[in-house]
Amino acid sequence: MTTLLTTRDVARIVAAHGLPQMLARMVEYLEADFRRWPDFEKCARLASHSEVGVIELMPVSDATDYSFKYVNGHPKNTREGLPTVMAFGVLADVATGMPTLLSELTLTTAMRTAGTSVMAAKRLARPDSKVMALVGNGAQSEFQALAFHHLLGIDQVRLYDVDTEATAKLTAHLQAAAPTLRVVRCGSIAEAVRGADIVTTVTADKTNATILTPEMLEPGMHVNGVGGDCPGKTELHPGVLQRSRVFVEFEPQTRIEGDLQHLPADFAVTEFWRVLTGQAEGRRDASETTVFDSVGFALEDYSALRLLRDCARELGLGADADIIPALADPKDLYGHLMGAPQAQSQAA
Ligand SMILES: NC(=O)c1ccc[n+]([C@@H]2O[C@H](COP(=O)([O-])OP(=O)(O)OC[C@H]3O[C@@H](n4cnc5c(N)ncnc54)[C@H](O)[C@@H]3O)[C@@H](O)[C@H]2O)c1
Repeated sequence: MTTLLTTRDVARIVAAHGLPQMLARMVEYLEADFRRWPDFEKCARLASHSEVGVIELMPVSDATDYSFKYVNGHPKNTREGLPTVMAFGVLADVATGMPTLLSELTLTTAMRTAGTSVMAAKRLARPDSKVMALVGNGAQSEFQALAFHHLLGIDQVRLYDVDTEATAKLTAHLQAAAPTLRVVRCGSIAEAVRGADIVTTVTADKTNATILTPEMLEPGMHVNGVGGDCPGKTELHPGVLQRSRVFVEFEPQTRIEGDLQHLPADFAVTEFWRVLTGQAEGRRDASETTVFDSVGFALEDYSALRLLRDCARELGLGADADIIPALADPKDLYGHLMGAPQAQSQAA
């Protein structure tokens, strides 16, 4: 049987652990998998573009487990009452091909993206970082703010969004969830970014936006660029990358989808797993600026699905879903139709 985890199950898992603990565990799972990067068969995700958005399939596997995520990106969706990003995914057994877990991944993507941002910032931001600018206050933003607060010691967030209602929503949630986190609402991107140790950009717009310009960079800043993740959908002025040391998840994918798409193919970047395993340097001193040009990589969803599987087992959550027929004789697929109850005709 395949285990099915719905959004309600994932909300229960988060309620049982508390979001800070869940995010901490997510980072542990991500780090464990990024440390064994060479074990995985990797490819850039398959993106189907339309005028208004993108639908992507993200596969990855090692010798034991195969995973994929279905995810979309439609920045105009919120005007129609739908999230910008929606996702689900599967974990399957490599030995047989049997899907073992089918799960919601919309909530989970927000947790795994925040976990990935923290995993990178732990090695790339200055260790004394206390203040984070957060530009883009939509669905992902609480997860980013709370992950940086609880796991990295950020004690002040400086918020900006073109939509003041989104900022009001984020402010209310953060004040309720993290009373010791100082929340400052700003009137412009420049005001939010001024004096910040870390700048997280997590906006959604299907255009080459210029959220952050080189003039806004200050010595020692770390930029966590999350929203530039598709061809023609970017957030950072190319000069921000040119003035910084740039770190990526999977280089072949980021060259196509990241803010990096604006720079020549020989512009040097470092894959983050190399920093994690000690093969490349992270931050070298307190004055350089670093950029994590995040686009989201399949391995992060593999880690997240592994974590969900373990949490579901621990808590006894999830339903058996017979999406693969259980056959007494595996060669007799036709026979499975014989025992099926007759459906009632709608027209009757
Ligand atoms: N890198 C990753 O792994 C990853 C994972 C998930 C989502 N994302 C990306 O993160 C972005 C945010 O996702 P979300 O689910 O929060 O979307 P969302 O639509 O819920 O929120 C995006 C917010 O950005 C704001 N915004 C748009 N243009 C802006 C501008 N010029 N200045 C300030 N604010 C602006 C919008 O008003 C909105 O509140 C999307 O682009 C999504 O594709 C990346």
